[in-house]
Amino acid sequence: MNAIEFRKVTKKFGGFTANRDLSFTVKKGSIHGLIGENGAGKSTAMKVLFGIHPADSGEILIEDRVVRITNPVHAMRMGIGMVHQHFMLAGPETVLDNIILGHEPGRVFVGRARAEAELRAIAKTYGLDFDRWDRPVSELSVGEQQRVEILKLLYQKSKVLILDEPTAVLTPQEVKDLFGNLVRLKEEGKTIILISHKLKEVLGYCDEITVIRRGETVGSRKASETDDSELARMMVGRDVSFTYQGERKVFANMSDAKPVVRVSRLSITSTTEPLREVSFELKPGEILGVAGVQGNGQSTLLRALSHPSLHAKNWSGEYLLNGRDQSGSDPIVLRNAGVGLVPEDRLSEGLLLNQDMTENFLLGQHEDPRYSKGGFLLRTKARAVTESKIKEFDIRPPYPTVWTGRMSGGNQQKLVIARALDPGPSVLYVAHPTRGVDVGAIEKIHDAIVQERNRGKAILLFSSELDELMDLCDRMLVFYNGGIRAEFARPDFDPWAIGRVMGGGDR
Ligand SMILES: Nc1ncnc2c1ncn2[C@@H]1O[C@H](COP(=O)(O)OP(=O)(O)OP(=O)(O)O)[C@@H](O)[C@H]1O
Ligand SMILES: [Mg+2]
Repeated sequence: MNAIEFRKVTKKFGGFTANRDLSFTVKKGSIHGLIGENGAGKSTAMKVLFGIHPADSGEILIEDRVVRITNPVHAMRMGIGMVHQHFMLAGPETVLDNIILGHEPGRVFVGRARAEAELRAIAKTYGLDFDRWDRPVSELSVGEQQRVEILKLLYQKSKVLILDEPTAVLTPQEVKDLFGNLVRLKEEGKTIILISHKLKEVLGYCDEITVIRRGETVGSRKASETDDSELARMMVGRDVSFTYQGERKVFANMSDAKPVVRVSRLSITSTTEPLREVSFELKPGEILGVAGVQGNGQSTLLRALSHPSLHAKNWSGEYLLNGRDQSGSDPIVLRNAGVGLVPEDRLSEGLLLNQDMTENFLLGQHEDPRYSKGGFLLRTKARAVTESKIKEFDIRPPYPTVWTGRMSGGNQQKLVIARALDPGPSVLYVAHPTRGVDVGAIEKIHDAIVQERNRGKAILLFSSELDELMDLCDRMLVFYNGGIRAEFARPDFDPWAIGRVMGGGDR
């Protein structure tokens, strides 16, 4: 039996068609992958299924019967649950309230104590237990927040679970746990629809995969009968290379070059993710990788380097940029000193969602002489540059007047990257540049980063993808428990040795 069927579903936003005659089927009791380029219409299709957007035409079938789903409460009542690409939990509310309040469609009111007992039992069964159910969700890590979201679906007794890019921000262990649970839910007869840009994951765990391109179905394949090259071709319409194939300029006398960034014995201890005695140098023309399991000090290092004044109270150690002390600087000072930044969380730190692409491109560059003259912003110029970046990075939809809040997740990411790689800065702090980005765009972003290196920029690259670091970096620092535990140099990157150090062992 099919759990879900889309029959020629069309969804328009004004004059723009996000889903066009979209048709595919999802078998009951299977894990079904939904893949496609950024902006292809994956999230939109799932929002139509979940009753957030009404379809303009076409039909949706649940267990082979045509249904009309008009809103999310209705969808939940029909057994459909969704974990969004960007979570939608109520920050100040507790874990418990987030799960049981307002999510009792079709249930007789059972009383808090009983609801809690039931929830604890479910949590225990799936290894999703919380030490404290009374913590506000805003205090939870992303991985924990996602567990709350999944628990919510299990509590609602969803039969179809839609997960929109669930692994983009998880640690490798969390990814393993998540898929362990998904396989188990499937064995219990539930159906899972998984949106992901990670072809390895999709091929490893899905039974079948549907590819969407520009809002239309390209086709569906059994995971056992396809591979990453074919899927990538179906997604972007051309062959994609999964490793960097371009030139890597060789710089003579690298060892004599003066470091652009010098960090010595930097410690920031009174935070949840402390940093202990970190020292390194970053030279022009190199990509220095920062590897480690999330939570081992990397985030604190990035925040310290990009916003030192925030940590002024518990700062110890030295941070020099081209020989000048930056330990008390704020982001604008750093920006003017030549630092470009791709922040960890593009939504909360990177973009103004109710402003257009040009405004967002100007963000943090208001004092840059390229975009301002005598106190006036050169908007026409900024708009022209934004237009050229849209072309270069294939940002969609390709209009500088589009509000960034209406762009798909991956296209927002491309804009943040394009802004940071603007030719101004001489140092780049880049975090998770390809998070949520499709395989074709990854190729472009990787190429752009190496090109900046070849131009002599100094790049510090934070990534949770070891493959990405090994592909791009000249050297790599491995973090564990707040400090640098090992350094590896190209071409001697040994994934096993790096993995051991990331886990707290020896190389
Ligand atoms: N509320 C909206 N108003 C206008 N346009 C929208 C809205 N939501 C989505 N779109 C547009 O619809 C298209 C499809 O977006 P969608 O979020 O479904 O893409 P996606 O396949 O999920 O991409 P990604 O992999 O980047 O998450 C995009 O071009 C997007 O800009
Ligand atoms: Mg999406």
